[in-house]
Amino acid sequence: MRRLGLRNPLDAPLPTPPDALRKGPLREGAFRSRLHEPRTAVVLGRWLAGAILVCFVTGLISHLLQQPPTWLRDHLPSRPAQGYRVTQGLHVISGIAAIPLLGAKLWTVYPKLFAWPPARTLRHGLERLGIALLVGAMLLELFTGLLNTLQWYPWPFPFRQTHFWLAWIAVGGLLVHVAAKGPEIAEHWRRSKPPLPGRRALLGSVAAAVGAVTVVTAGQTVPWLRSLDLLSPRRPDVGPQGLPVNRTAAQAGTLRTPADWRLRVDGPRPYTLTMDELLALPQTDVDLPIACVEGWSASARWGGVRIRDLLDRAGAAPGALIRVTSLEQSGPYAVMTMPHTYARDPLTLLALRVDGHVLDPDHGYPARIIAPNRPGVLQTKWVSRLEVL
Ligand code: HEM
Repeated sequence: MRRLGLRNPLDAPLPTPPDALRKGPLREGAFRSRLHEPRTAVVLGRWLAGAILVCFVTGLISHLLQQPPTWLRDHLPSRPAQGYRVTQGLHVISGIAAIPLLGAKLWTVYPKLFAWPPARTLRHGLERLGIALLVGAMLLELFTGLLNTLQWYPWPFPFRQTHFWLAWIAVGGLLVHVAAKGPEIAEHWRRSKPPLPGRRALLGSVAAAVGAVTVVTAGQTVPWLRSLDLLSPRRPDVGPQGLPVNRTAAQAGTLRTPADWRLRVDGPRPYTLTMDELLALPQTDVDLPIACVEGWSASARWGGVRIRDLLDRAGAAPGALIRVTSLEQSGPYAVMTMPHTYARDPLTLLALRVDGHVLDPDHGYPARIIAPNRPGVLQTKWVSRLEVL
């Protein structure tokens, strides 16, 4: 196009708006700090990108464990047993750390948002639209995530799907942004001039803010930080039988277990078992955490019957998918499907006890699922039926 003397339409200049509109922050020299400059933007951008990358990858892991596509479902690993506790703990820790980092990055670059003229060319205008999408998606993503850790949903849209798609928009926008700023990022990647006065203090304050929010919230995941856990919404050792509860038996309508409760196992050789019959089967104890999507996790010693023993008795094929149904009448997790990798794991139990005691109704009395490397919402409580699909 250039050889023919034609200009790419994206680079055609756009008309400049009248100067009379150039007021307030749009005025020349409206921002005085010398730290609104590219080297500071690159240093903070690198830190922010690190936090966002960890948050994105661990978020995808959580999404895939909860809602795997069919081709992946039978390959979900049940080990490491503590895996989900680590990845989801990191997800919430990096998401919270990204909040001060995003604030500092935006402070550094926000005078650019008032650049004049607002769009020099169509390409420049499109880049700025991309920036608007990136900033909007990042702010909303971190805001919805933070409110989710408080179990507060003041919006009409479904949290999980919105958070998932916003993550893709934000990360896509970030890739476009980094590509568009590529030459500038490369130029300022290494320090080439003596540091600007005040930059070290700014970066030090941002690092201190990130350290502070991490230390006062990470105790919900990291046991040795528990004594500093001042701001996290949950204490992993508070709740009936020393474990937190998200959905209580009262909320689920399962406070009173039917007097004729039996575990029903449907498969090639269906059968039912009373509680006494379940207790007469070989019992296993396992140490596993309840690891919640909100980032907290708590370990306990669970006792009960191995799911694979119950399935073998029903004649289930080793690769069979299992459906677990709760006594809960409604609620998004009243029915759960369990791939064979979990169902066959010797650590996966139909738990009847926790730390040597009969389960509290809030922990799923009469029986609940406990499996390794599984989000808490899939550790179905108040189990009434197992089905071989
Ligand atoms: C959540 C992630 C990010 C957000 C929301 C964000 C936001 C912004 C915004 C709003 C601007 C001003 C745009 C304009 O020029 O009109 C900007 C500029 C810039 N960003 Fe980012 N950014 C992010 C990540 C990054 C990363 C990862 C890097 C590099 C490692 C980076 C490097 C830069 C640079 C070099 C500039 C130009 C600064 C200047 O010319 O003074 N950004 N960013």
